[in-house]
Amino acid sequence: MEAHRLALSSLITLSFFLAILPPSYCTDYARFVNCSRPYECGRIKNVSYPFWGGNRPESCGRQGFKLECYNDEYPIIKFEELEFLILNINQAQNNMTIARLDLWSGSCPQTYLDTVLNYSFFDYAPTVLNITLFYGCPPQVNKSIPVQNRFTCLEGSDANNNAYFVNESSAKIHILEPEKCRGKIRVPISRNAIIDESAGVVHALNESLNQGFDVDYNPLHDTACNGCVRSGGNCGSKETHQFVCFCRDGERSYSCPGNNMYSLFSSHFPGLG
Ligand SMILES: *[C@@H]1O[C@H](CO)[C@@H](O)[C@H](O)[C@H]1NC(C)=O
Ligand SMILES: *[C@@H]1O[C@H](CO)[C@@H](O)[C@H](O)[C@H]1NC(C)=O
Ligand SMILES: *[C@@H]1O[C@H](CO)[C@@H](O)[C@H](O)[C@H]1NC(C)=O
Ligand SMILES: *[C@@H]1O[C@H](CO)[C@@H](O)[C@H](O)[C@H]1NC(C)=O
Ligand SMILES: *[C@@H]1O[C@H](CO)[C@@H](O)[C@H](O)[C@H]1NC(C)=O
Ligand SMILES: *[C@@H]1O[C@H](CO)[C@@H](O)[C@H](O)[C@H]1NC(C)=O
Ligand SMILES: *[C@@H]1O[C@H](CO)[C@@H](O)[C@H](O)[C@H]1NC(C)=O
Ligand SMILES: *[C@@H]1O[C@H](CO)[C@@H](O)[C@H](O)[C@H]1NC(C)=O
Repeated sequence: MEAHRLALSSLITLSFFLAILPPSYCTDYARFVNCSRPYECGRIKNVSYPFWGGNRPESCGRQGFKLECYNDEYPIIKFEELEFLILNINQAQNNMTIARLDLWSGSCPQTYLDTVLNYSFFDYAPTVLNITLFYGCPPQVNKSIPVQNRFTCLEGSDANNNAYFVNESSAKIHILEPEKCRGKIRVPISRNAIIDESAGVVHALNESLNQGFDVDYNPLHDTACNGCVRSGGNCGSKETHQFVCFCRDGERSYSCPGNNMYSLFSSHFPGLG
């Protein structure tokens, strides 16, 4: 009777623990699991640290590398008010090709904003050259601009007004009173983007803007991240640490435990770091 009751209570205790303890094969550290999911949007796939967004929480990336998916087509990165479509990412080279969303469907935007990047993390690649677009210019400006650099905006805030573009090499063109134009923006294009005007200036300009331009990004923590990935971890960050390595069983400073030297030095566990 006594033994029976003991057995019963053990059984109850056992089933209680079985119910509250998840089986060990699904106890992988949640941040490890989350950060093993690559970022995907349209044609851009397999994007990892330092990028985050979509199903990758902020802890899977670095500040300044947030991506949003635009129309399920391209990822978008924002710098101040400007949104850029990401046409290509080369994570091995820490660079990517981006294009201004506001100029994507034509060269006449609603508002005139110069191109800016978050220069703390991004910079123009050496393959970039700037062009300047002038909008809403008075007739006297027209005369000083070669015909192949003139176009008319059909929409935007200066529809039917004279507009122009000039590249750096034609900066020598003496523009009469450019300050009389209502707007002016600087946009990088790829040095290799040939402005082929056989189908018209507007088309040529649109094409070269849509090819985008390359920016390099800061490879900070790359070495740490490579070590983390080699040890089977996923790179990330948290409020107190710019870099953390998420392992199956918790987080470490640099790499996951195993047959490598770094694990001797990596000490902190979730909650203690
Ligand atoms: C993991 O991702 C899910 C869904 O994206 C989210 O709800 C959850 O809070 C994340 N967990 C951690 C620890 O980041
Ligand atoms: C995704 O990227 C990782 C490195 O970041 C690489 O090891 C893996 O082979 C890639 N997968 C595909 C399907 O391209
Ligand atoms: C650059 O990104 C950081 C992190 O998101 C942000 O704090 C900073 O304000 C950004 N700077 C600019 C100029 O956008
Ligand atoms: C990145 O850099 C490499 C090497 O300099 C270059 O070939 C490539 O065109 C650049 N851009 C992208 C998006 O890959
Ligand atoms: C510019 O290119 C985009 C994308 O190819 C296209 O949708 C748009 O109609 C073009 N606009 C002009 C004014 O050529
Ligand atoms: C293009 O303009 C940006 C600022 O708008 C500047 O930082 C960059 O150096 C310029 N690039 C070239 C090649 O002149
Ligand atoms: C300015 O140039 C445009 C495009 O070449 C042309 O259509 C327009 O007639 C010109 N306007 C004046 C006032 O010269
Ligand atoms: C810059 O503009 C000039 C004059 O319009 C043109 O001859 C030259 O080919 C252009 N350069 C580039 C790189 O587009």
